Amino acid sequence: MSFKPPVYVIGGGMITRIQLLPTIYHLQREGLVGDIHVCALNAPPLRDIMNDPALAKAFPGQSIIPHPDPAKVSDKEMFPDLNKELLASAPAGSIAVVAVPDQVHYPVLKQAIEHNLHVCIVKPLVLKHQQAEEVAELAYNKGLVVGVEYHKRFDYRNMMARRAYRAGRFGEFRLAQAQMIEPWYYRDSNFQNWCTCENSDMFTYVGCHYVDLVAFITGLKPVSVSVYGIKDKYPNGRDGYLWTDGRVIWENGASLSVVDAIGYPNSAPGGNAQGLAMWGQGPNDATLLFHSDQYRGVKHGYTAPGTDPGDTIYGEPNPDYFQLIDSGGPGLTPIGYGHRSAEFIIKACRKAAAMDKLSDRQQFIKQLDAEGIMATPRNSSYNELVIEAARMSIQNGGREVAISYGDKSGVQFKQY
Ligand SMILES: NC(=O)c1ccc[n+]([C@@H]2O[C@H](COP(=O)([O-])OP(=O)(O)OC[C@H]3O[C@@H](n4cnc5c(N)ncnc54)[C@H](O)[C@@H]3O)[C@@H](O)[C@H]2O)c1
Repeated sequence: MSFKPPVYVIGGGMITRIQLLPTIYHLQREGLVGDIHVCALNAPPLRDIMNDPALAKAFPGQSIIPHPDPAKVSDKEMFPDLNKELLASAPAGSIAVVAVPDQVHYPVLKQAIEHNLHVCIVKPLVLKHQQAEEVAELAYNKGLVVGVEYHKRFDYRNMMARRAYRAGRFGEFRLAQAQMIEPWYYRDSNFQNWCTCENSDMFTYVGCHYVDLVAFITGLKPVSVSVYGIKDKYPNGRDGYLWTDGRVIWENGASLSVVDAIGYPNSAPGGNAQGLAMWGQGPNDATLLFHSDQYRGVKHGYTAPGTDPGDTIYGEPNPDYFQLIDSGGPGLTPIGYGHRSAEFIIKACRKAAAMDKLSDRQQFIKQLDAEGIMATPRNSSYNELVIEAARMSIQNGGREVAISYGDKSGVQFKQY
């Protein structure tokens, strides 16, 4: 019988429902993982998952074990500590999938590690560099894999770019421009309750994807950050930095400028606006990398718009991120870089879980750190430094904040 570690998903929100759970169901159908527990703060999101027609069609006969059970509690009751009980009840070597709001990542991660669980966690790992270092050390000492789910790394175009850059085919990176502009209707969602000026901003929330990608492609580290943010009001009256313009300088002097916003028109045909352009210096000529990550060559005109927010009658869907397709067999099969990313991390967790010896697991963690395909606390903690620097900068009118590495790693206002 194949080895099937159970999976404990903490967080039952949007990313769990549309991306992580389909992949975990698929792995369960393939006989690679066991029972799937899902924990949320309260019952309604779990009921939504259990009644989701798309999941039922794709994974007939499969289900989650909900915590709390919507059949047994009222919708109003809150269970902020249930995740602790659940993680404490998980057998050592099980897999925790962490998909709670950013500020809850650190305590949930610590619980998972304390109870000897391997972890797949959505980005950002944590909000402070020192916490990332602490998690790296605690997990390594116990031989636990922690993988951070930056799914753009698993988009083949980025893997192609990384290979070509590292083979010298793009010369030396000099300038880049990226954008990720999320849809206007996000202003009406739960964002207005947490993505407010004192907690986060659009650069911190989505700009990190392209910062991570430039590091993934080039292997360079970011050394300074400045972020200018424009405050705007959410429908509930709270202030958010809903338009941001960030500039990241890299250790070779190159510069990446990233604009991020909740500002993509609801009437527009894609899920958001996103893309990357990079220019480099070759021996005799310039080099170019251009990725349209929004329009991927697909145009659909429907009989009527779909029922989700932002659905339009004319659409430009992304066939590469995450789709459920009929490829024969029961139900539907998840495909795309969102699927490959979560699958890669959960398979790495499973592989480590099957190793009895601590030294074997530690060797495997070192291999994952060194390969740098999967983001780990050790190999991607520059992301936490960028977050710290960005928060400092945006709250000080865009002042440049320098990042230092090594024994004295940290951030401080740049001295001129
Ligand atoms: N592109 C990406 O990589 C990407 C995209 C979207 C979201 N995310 C990340 O995923 C995480 C979740 O985002 P989302 O959009 O699914 O949020 P969401 O608000 O839709 O869902 C959050 C879930 O966490 C649960 N939760 C909160 N506190 C909890 C606790 N103490 N115990 C148990 N459950 C708790 C809530 O009940 C809810 O089900 C965030 O860290 C976000 O940054 C990443």
